[in-house]
Amino acid sequence: MTKLDEGSLTGLLQRDVTIRVVEPHILSVFSNDETGNSYDDKFGTMYDLVACNPIYNRLIWGYSTAKFPLVVEKVLQARSDGFVLDIGCGALAFTAGIYSRYRERPVILVDQSLKLLRLAKARLIKLNGAVPENMIFVHADAMQLSFVPKSFSTIIVLNLLHVLPDIVRANSQIKGGISSKNEGTLRQRPLSIREVSLVI
Ligand SMILES: C[S@@+](CC[C@H](N)C(=O)[O-])C[C@H]1O[C@@H](n2cnc3c(N)ncnc32)[C@H](O)[C@@H]1O
Repeated sequence: MTKLDEGSLTGLLQRDVTIRVVEPHILSVFSNDETGNSYDDKFGTMYDLVACNPIYNRLIWGYSTAKFPLVVEKVLQARSDGFVLDIGCGALAFTAGIYSRYRERPVILVDQSLKLLRLAKARLIKLNGAVPENMIFVHADAMQLSFVPKSFSTIIVLNLLHVLPDIVRANSQIKGGISSKNEGTLRQRPLSIREVSLVI
């Protein structure tokens, strides 16, 4: 199992990017903890408690959130080599269970909200007793990814595109991250009112 830490991440980052340790298991490409988005305030708490609640989703949007972990599990199992990148991982509201058991490949979990990254970390620790050694959280911007192009063999983008200001640019960032060796195919699946992008 590949262990992920500040050192192993450095090789994946573009030369001009400086990485900062926020706390154990959370790194940041930003110069301070205050950089973030609306999920860092009360909206983030409401989002996690209400918008991620399975009953709320069933009643308001008419779908089952159970499909999200199933899709992510399938995508993780589709390949056995290379790095996995989850962009806009949030608090892992739907995927903590899958990630807490996943050890096959190194996984980089990116989000612009430090508050949600901390919630995600707490979820993994609750389920697993610790953050799995093959995972690391990175506080970064999906619109300007700081990674060396083509570094990843799997990219997961769950419920993110609808909150970004420029989907065309976001898609180009996502596609740019995928390894050419794997000839990643961008599959966009409207699983719900939200868009799910998977590059595998
Ligand atoms: C609707 S939530 C989805 C979270 C998670 N993927 C899920 O399905 O539960 C959107 C997430 O995107 C993050 N986000 C919004 N803009 C971002 C950006 N520019 N870069 C990285 N993350 C961003 C938010 O902080 C939030 O965690």
